[in-house]
Amino acid sequence: MFLVKVSVTFSAAHRLCQPGLSDEENFALYGKCSNPSGHGHNYDLEVAVLGEVDPATGMVANFYDIQRIIDREVFDKVDHKNLNVDVDFLQGIVPTAENMARRFWEVLEPHLNGCRLFSVTVGERNGNVATYLGPRPVAPELLLAAAATRL
Ligand code: NI
Repeated sequence: MFLVKVSVTFSAAHRLCQPGLSDEENFALYGKCSNPSGHGHNYDLEVAVLGEVDPATGMVANFYDIQRIIDREVFDKVDHKNLNVDVDFLQGIVPTAENMARRFWEVLEPHLNGCRLFSVTVGERNGNVATYLGPRPVAPELLLAAAATRL
């Protein structure tokens, strides 16, 4: 069994805030990421698919096919954008790394034909990383594999 990973980096602005809270309360919850004017991050996005090698091709999946799907479905829509305002599939959520990873999974999974999506990891360049393993319960050995996932 193989874990095949494709990573991209994008730059975007966001603000973490709960609409019902004051600026002070949001700062207490989210710290500097609650800055009312927003701020930017250089994000890392890693997509991992799980599978066996096809003996005919020597691949689980073609890296460039996965790359193209990530570029089309996510990168082109988030790079150099304001995540709170500009991205349809991020509306109605607080754009934390966790929420972004889950939404990216939901956007990407229907397009990964023939691949079993294993994880979607979103990292802010300061080393804060969130990995989403999908909506279903995860076997302990897969949790170990995910823990070994790093950007
Ligand atoms: Ni932030």
